[in-house]
Amino acid sequence: MMNERVNKVALIGAGFVGSSYAFALINQGITDELVIIDVNREKAMGDVMDLNHGKAFAPHPVKTSYGTYEDCKDADIVCICAGANQKPGETRLELVEKNLAIFKSIVGEVMASGFDGIFLVATNPVDILTYATWTFSGLPKERVIGSGTTLDSARFRYMLSEYFGAAPQNVHAHIIGEHGDTELPVWSHANIGGVPVQQLLEKNAAYKQDELDQIVDDVKNAAYHIIEKKGATYYGVAMSLARITKAILRNENSILTVSTYLDGQYGVNDVFIGVPAVVNRNGIAGVTELELNETEQAQFSRSANVLKDILAPHFAE
Ligand SMILES: NC(=O)c1ccc[n+]([C@@H]2O[C@H](COP(=O)([O-])OP(=O)(O)OC[C@H]3O[C@@H](n4cnc5c(N)ncnc54)[C@H](O)[C@@H]3O)[C@@H](O)[C@H]2O)c1
Repeated sequence: MMNERVNKVALIGAGFVGSSYAFALINQGITDELVIIDVNREKAMGDVMDLNHGKAFAPHPVKTSYGTYEDCKDADIVCICAGANQKPGETRLELVEKNLAIFKSIVGEVMASGFDGIFLVATNPVDILTYATWTFSGLPKERVIGSGTTLDSARFRYMLSEYFGAAPQNVHAHIIGEHGDTELPVWSHANIGGVPVQQLLEKNAAYKQDELDQIVDDVKNAAYHIIEKKGATYYGVAMSLARITKAILRNENSILTVSTYLDGQYGVNDVFIGVPAVVNRNGIAGVTELELNETEQAQFSRSANVLKDILAPHFAE
C-alpha cells in the first residue's frame, strides 16, 4: 500500500507574523501541507490565493489551503500567531489579558478537533501564552513549544557577526530567559567559531566591553525600534518559527532557544522560558543545561520570577 503520510502544519492567525511564516515555509519547502485559519476569513483566503500563485517557483509544491479548526485534527504542528500585537510603547506583558482570552478559545477549538500533535506558539507574551497553551490543551509539556528567545538569539548572533566579522552561522551565542525586558546574554559560553568572546576581548584592544553591552541593549530593544519605524516586527520571528518547524518535521535534534517547561533545571520550576533545548519530531527531547556564572544565574532567576508572578493570578496551583 502506498504511504500517503505527509507533514501538515496548521497556522492560526494570518496577520503580519503568520503570513510571513507561511511565506517562509513555502519558500523553504519545509512542510507538505499548510492550512491557514483566521477569524478574518477574507485575509486568510486572500493569503492562500496569493501564496498559491507563487507555488510554481517554490522548491517543493506545498499544498496550501484555507481551513477551519476541524483541519487541525491530523496536523503535525499547530502554530499560533493569532492575537493582539504590541502597540507602540506597550510591553509584551501588557498583552496578557487580551491574549489569554483569545487562547482559551483557540486551544479549546484545536483540541476539540482531535489534534494530537505539537503546538508552536508565537503570540506575545510568548512564555505566558505557551504555558497557557500547555494548561488549556492538557498535552504533555514536550509537545508545547514557544518561540522563546530564538529570535533574540538570532538578533544577537547577527549583531555579533557584524562586530567580529564572522558569519552569523559561526557565532554561537544564546539569549535566554523571558522573551522580553528581563532576557539576558550568556556571555560565559559565547564563542566565535570556537574562540570564547571573553578571550577575543582580552587579546584584541579593538574589541570593547561597553560596545558588547550596547549590542545586548540593541537586541533587547530591537522590537521597540522596529515597531516605532514600521508598526510591527515579523520577518525575523517568521524565520525563527520556520527554523523550529524544520527542526521538528525533519527530526533534527537541533538545539534552539525555545520557550520550554522547566522542572528543576537552572533551579527553576513550573514556568515556560527561553533556554537551549533539543528539538525533534517528538517536540522537546531535552533541555541543555548551560553552566551559568553567578551573574547570569541571578539574572535568569529574576527573569523566571517575573514570568511566575504574571502566571500566578491566572494559573493558581
Ligand atoms: N514571539 C516572537 O518573537 C514575536 C515577534 C513578533 C511578534 N510576535 C507576536 O505575534 C502576534 C501576532 O502579531 P502580528 O503582527 O501578526 O499581529 P496581527 O494583528 O497582524 O495579526 C493577528 C492575527 O490574528 C487574528 N486573530 C485575532 N483573534 C483571533 C482568533 N480568536 N482566532 C483566529 N485568529 C485571530 C487576526 O485576525 C489577525 O489576522 C502578536 O502577539 C505579536 O506580539 C511575537
